[in-house]
Amino acid sequence: MSASGLRSTLPPLSAEEERHSRALAAHMRAELVCAGGWLSFERFMELALYTPGLGYYSAGSAKIGPGGDFVTAPEVSALFGRCLARQCAEILEHTGAEILELGAGTGRMAAELLGALAALGVTLERYAILEVSADLAERQRRRLAGLPQALRERVVWLERLPETPLEGIIIANEVADALPCRRFLWHEGKLRELGVALAGQGAAGEEAIAFREQPAAPDAALARECARLLAPLGEALPDGYASEVSLRLGPWIAALGECLGRGVLLLADYGLPRRHYYHPERAGGTLRCHFKQRAHDDPYINLGVQDITAWVDFTRVAEAAAAADLTVGGFATQAAFLLALGLEGLVAQADDTVQRARLAGEARRLIMPEEMGEAFKFMALTRGYDAPLSGFALQDLSRLL
Ligand SMILES: C[S@@+](CC[C@H](N)C(=O)[O-])C[C@H]1O[C@@H](n2cnc3c(N)ncnc32)[C@H](O)[C@@H]1O
Repeated sequence: MSASGLRSTLPPLSAEEERHSRALAAHMRAELVCAGGWLSFERFMELALYTPGLGYYSAGSAKIGPGGDFVTAPEVSALFGRCLARQCAEILEHTGAEILELGAGTGRMAAELLGALAALGVTLERYAILEVSADLAERQRRRLAGLPQALRERVVWLERLPETPLEGIIIANEVADALPCRRFLWHEGKLRELGVALAGQGAAGEEAIAFREQPAAPDAALARECARLLAPLGEALPDGYASEVSLRLGPWIAALGECLGRGVLLLADYGLPRRHYYHPERAGGTLRCHFKQRAHDDPYINLGVQDITAWVDFTRVAEAAAAADLTVGGFATQAAFLLALGLEGLVAQADDTVQRARLAGEARRLIMPEEMGEAFKFMALTRGYDAPLSGFALQDLSRLL
């Protein structure tokens, strides 16, 4: 579908969103022109999401929740945080009592976790949040201000990753998919990097700034990485095959690994093991944009007011973990993880039939394959931890990595 065709199926931008989007486009154009007329997709995505004051995560749109662009699992149901709390309580019996949450969104999961852990008799020393978005950090503060003081006073916001390794748990739900990624195309038997060029900046000036996909020769890092990823596919790769590769994922896991003394890093995200991620039939890649509860695949529209994500190659996470001296402690679908932690029992404990029916509906959204159950995976990376991880008791897909 053309950009204008797609735009007509999406909700229109408000005047403020239009202004914001044009300001970001002008900023991007200036950088692109300085760079000689071409930017890697990774840099484009970084500018779209994180340009100070203008990027999607750096500016003030609602983003998460029914009035925003997308809904995450903790926003779907408190059951998510309550199941996760059981996994955390089990881990914290064997480690120090600290949790670090990356990208805490509206603070909903933090609130649920803190409440549910207290109900399980777990006292945390500290619940730290590292959030890149100033307006989301403010929403988190407002939400967590409603907690009992004994819990509230455990919560701190960090500006950067802690320098002293923590003993406990690092959690990130739907954060890795926001890491800017490279894109590539297999065309006429050759690898091309998919980058970004100007599509128009004509007489209408600023209003006409538009960007388009522009293939170019890959740099050495991308060429090396794609050769490694695509070699097992050999001649099976169809012409026009395009996908993503996150060269930032490894350094990100390494940085998180440095923060973890003893304990577990729990990652949850859309993603696949590599053999499924780079399957010849997944010929269009995994890039998705989210705007006002609609998902689409055009990152060049709605600049700064829509989310851009790419699925996580969990084999890459496992490789990065091994390099960072972390061990894969489990890998499972979100459905298997939540069911293993007693999701159904929590629904059954509802006070009355009305509440039970509501919770059953929410649970279905979390676990049904066509909803969030299969596309989302949980992975545990451990250091100095060999006690059970009950979330992986029903299923461990580590062999597929
Ligand atoms: C898709 S939202 C998920 C929010 C929340 N974890 C949830 O499940 O509702 C992504 C979150 O990660 C934050 N974020 C994005 N990039 C980040 C980064 N590089 N480091 C830490 N947080 C980041 C965003 O501001 C936002 O809070």
